[in-house]
Amino acid sequence: MPKVVGISGSLRKGSFNTSLLRAAVEAAPAGMSIDQRTIHGIPLYDGDLEAESGIPVPVRDLKDQIAAADALLLVTPEYNNGIPGPFKNAIDWLSRPPKDIPRVFANKPVAVMGASPGRAGTVLSQNAWLPVLKTLGTCLWSGGRLMVGGASKVFDASGNLVDDEVREQLKKFMTGFGEFVARASR
Ligand code: FNR
Repeated sequence: MPKVVGISGSLRKGSFNTSLLRAAVEAAPAGMSIDQRTIHGIPLYDGDLEAESGIPVPVRDLKDQIAAADALLLVTPEYNNGIPGPFKNAIDWLSRPPKDIPRVFANKPVAVMGASPGRAGTVLSQNAWLPVLKTLGTCLWSGGRLMVGGASKVFDASGNLVDDEVREQLKKFMTGFGEFVARASR
């Protein structure tokens, strides 16, 4: 059974991206399990902190979880047409020390999706992830794209996905990613 670590890149309680990750769990194909993670508890990257105290526990745990998983799903918000700082900060910590990058990221199948209240639905932040994922040596799945725009109408006040069209798009996306992960683990 393919095991996927899914990370929402928002700290917000009512995050559309955390809601999208939750909906992705429901839309996942049979046999795929998704471990939902957040970036809570990860401090700002500081080389002095790393030199003095090493890798913080929440970072170490997440690194181990990603290393043990078959694939990684990033659910990204968009800030100022780019990657939100807190999410990039988390991935930067996860890339420390560099000698661990092969264990955590190399050849790891990765998919990126995102949600925003705007019309373009995170297309620019998704694009901004590309050089980062390439640098880490991941194996990006580019067979499908999911940009959830108008998110305030797609999710209800409790964060439930209430848009049938987006649900279908999400199922198609997760099925395509599942097939990619299965091919990669053969
Ligand atoms: C935003 N937002 C935003 N949305 C977008 O589609 N493109 C953008 O460039 C930006 N820029 C931006 C900058 C900053 C600093 C903030 C705080 C917000 C709006 C953003 O999509 C919205 O706040 C989402 O709700 C964030 O995702 P979560 O927290 O709901 O997952």
